[in-house]
Amino acid sequence: MSQKHIRLGTILHGANGNMSAWRHPDAVVDASINFEFAKDIAQQAEQAKFDFVFVADGLYINEKSIPHFLNRFEPITLLSALASVTQHIGLVGTVSTSYSEPFTVTRQFASLDHISGGRAGWNVVTTPLEGTAKNHSRKVHPAHSERYEIADEYLQVAKGLWDSWGTGAFIRNKETGQFFDPKKLHTLNHQGKHFAVAGPLNVGRTPQERPIVFQAGASGAGRNLAAKHADAIFTHQSTIEEAQAFYQSVKNQAIQYGRHVDDLLIFQGISVLVGSSDEDVEQQYQDTAALVTIDDALNYLGRFFEHHDFTQYPLDDAFPDLGTLGENSFKSTTDEIKKHAQEKGLTLRQVALESATPRPLFSGTATSVADQLELWFNAQATDGFIISGATPNTLTVFIEQVIPILQQRGLYRTEYPGTTLRSSLGLNHPHNQFEQPIETQQQDNLHAS
Ligand SMILES: Cc1cc2nc3c(=O)[nH]c(=O)nc-3n(C[C@H](O)[C@H](O)[C@H](O)COP(=O)(O)O)c2cc1C
Repeated sequence: MSQKHIRLGTILHGANGNMSAWRHPDAVVDASINFEFAKDIAQQAEQAKFDFVFVADGLYINEKSIPHFLNRFEPITLLSALASVTQHIGLVGTVSTSYSEPFTVTRQFASLDHISGGRAGWNVVTTPLEGTAKNHSRKVHPAHSERYEIADEYLQVAKGLWDSWGTGAFIRNKETGQFFDPKKLHTLNHQGKHFAVAGPLNVGRTPQERPIVFQAGASGAGRNLAAKHADAIFTHQSTIEEAQAFYQSVKNQAIQYGRHVDDLLIFQGISVLVGSSDEDVEQQYQDTAALVTIDDALNYLGRFFEHHDFTQYPLDDAFPDLGTLGENSFKSTTDEIKKHAQEKGLTLRQVALESATPRPLFSGTATSVADQLELWFNAQATDGFIISGATPNTLTVFIEQVIPILQQRGLYRTEYPGTTLRSSLGLNHPHNQFEQPIETQQQDNLHAS
């Protein structure tokens, strides 16, 4: 691999900014359902040589949901359209393993990989919101541990399906009439606790061999899933020390699964604010934070706790004791909110506003933001960042002002190294599990019998 550099993605997140950013004077008001907006962001990010754009997703809304969640594109559909208006940038989308079928999803991402010439990435999530069950003909939302058990088996199946065809399996010889090479056709025949999938997949081996797998979820079970299966993990820590500890722990876990330390990349999801001076940054923060009312903030907080109604508590009393609420939802996030509120003795108002309008950790002048990114990267707190602009203008300013500084410092590339997301990220090609050396295959057969 060439010299290591910071990897960058950007999140497509409504108008960009906090939950009420659509009210900002410079916001595109319908950003989450406006293809021209998504195209503009993806093309700006591609010009800046970003590794990927990232689309988050959820499968349940109600009237208290974040406004830009109420009316938004389904990720794979959006990314497929973006594939035809971009050439190099990776296209990463969120799909839940708790509410989908492996055959369908594996096929969709394989198709996206073909359509985009090798730029597909899947952010595997287990779905925190309990209400999702009601949209999928289910009586109950699976428990946190079960969701991760399902995800583990799901990813085994997905990899098996993506390995259905060897490279060059489709001969398509008009003279002889041979369409494919039967030796390169592999049928999975998976029978497990949660899935029974015969295969093969009806999409050939993809340009990246397999689409890139991201994982977002920071609990013990989430880290374990990433260490075992993922190419990249999307996470969020509030201090450089916590990020370093997370980085070490997840990389060590990957090594324990027999993987190389560079086989799993860590991405910190960060909010960024760039200004001409500290005063300008503060003004931009205050102006954007002021768009969020206290009721908006209570709704935002409530969503993490299964849409809990926080209006029932006095705003300026200590943060309420919620018992186990949140355990089966956004577990790692709710654990952190409860701990932080207790340790700092915060009121409900403070917790809600901190949650809905957090001060961007990476904020300051362009030089100061570049310094902070460099510090985290060099301290092995992360391999890269998924940037979320704190205002609707921030991404453009970041690209114009921070990227050139990182490039001058040799921390960031000036050209794409190839055409696939795998090549951008510097990840190795996976081996087709059905095309192992004969001795290994025999051993596998013994274990299976
Ligand atoms: C940085 C980050 C991003 C996430 N993005 C999504 C998302 O887009 N959609 C979703 O349904 N869940 C998302 N999740 C939720 C996780 O998939 C997971 O279900 C939830 O956090 C509970 O698991 P955990 O306790 O392992 O974190 C995200 C979690 C984290 C930490």
